[in-house]
Amino acid sequence: MPYAICYLNGEFQPLAEARISPLDRGFLFADSVYEVLPVFDGRMFRFREHFDRLARSLREIRIESPHTHEEWLALLEELIRRNGGGTMYVYVQVTRGMEFGRNHTFPAGAKPSVFALASQLPTLTPELRATGLTAITVEDFRWGRCDIKSTALLANVLAKQQAADAGAHEAIFIRGDDVLEGSSTSIFVIRNGVVATPANSNRILPGTTRDVGLELATGVMPVEVRSIRLAELQAADEVWISAATRDVVPITRIDSKPVGTGKPGPYWQKLEAAFADLRKRLEGTPAL
Ligand SMILES: Cc1ncc(COP(=O)(O)O)c(C=O)c1O
Repeated sequence: MPYAICYLNGEFQPLAEARISPLDRGFLFADSVYEVLPVFDGRMFRFREHFDRLARSLREIRIESPHTHEEWLALLEELIRRNGGGTMYVYVQVTRGMEFGRNHTFPAGAKPSVFALASQLPTLTPELRATGLTAITVEDFRWGRCDIKSTALLANVLAKQQAADAGAHEAIFIRGDDVLEGSSTSIFVIRNGVVATPANSNRILPGTTRDVGLELATGVMPVEVRSIRLAELQAADEVWISAATRDVVPITRIDSKPVGTGKPGPYWQKLEAAFADLRKRLEGTPAL
């Protein structure tokens, strides 16, 4: 089995044999946060940004970080090595730990649980590269702290399933008239050669790939970080979504209507090339 080794509470072990208590608060309350980051040719991409965000998520839910950045780096490099190296993604989860009982308030002295796994990085198939992806819009019914990368993802799961049931790849959350983000992606809307993305707030996750997209787009076109109205999404020339496991990818149909020409657009192609360039430049450099 590929990616057979995981890390759980101090031990590298076969993923198929990893066990955790049902009393763990990650299981009982989704009292837990996580990170996902891509690994290209054995090198973790945007390591510091991901672990700064994990540290922030932990701080916001008042769990003391179990590791320093250097310790996380060593732990994950070992996980990558034990899974054969190369290109993959790694997932890290920290829960508040367990107590004997079930109480909403924090247990005194609980030790955070740490879990990490490696898995295959999805690739954009040649067919999807040619056609782009599809999305539906859904009313945002999540909680008020979407800036915390919490494993409490039921609303995201339901929205993504709604998209899948409609034959689409992603669900885009709309709150009132504001376009926010996808169920597991950030969003960019391109109109008249200008790219816009919502500002970070407690209504969206501060996407690490969104930041890369913004940096790279800055060299290509005007960039605006601001609220986006639903009507702008509907009138866009191009729409992109981004996530650590898929870079920036084009959405070419939303709610069954074509976006712009209905094909991946020229700005996305430029951005994608800039992304590939960046990855190449980073080859062989330290991850932290
Ligand atoms: C709700 C949500 N927004 C945005 C993102 C994109 O964040 P990143 O680019 O850091 O993967 C994710 C990724 O999982 C997400 O779950």
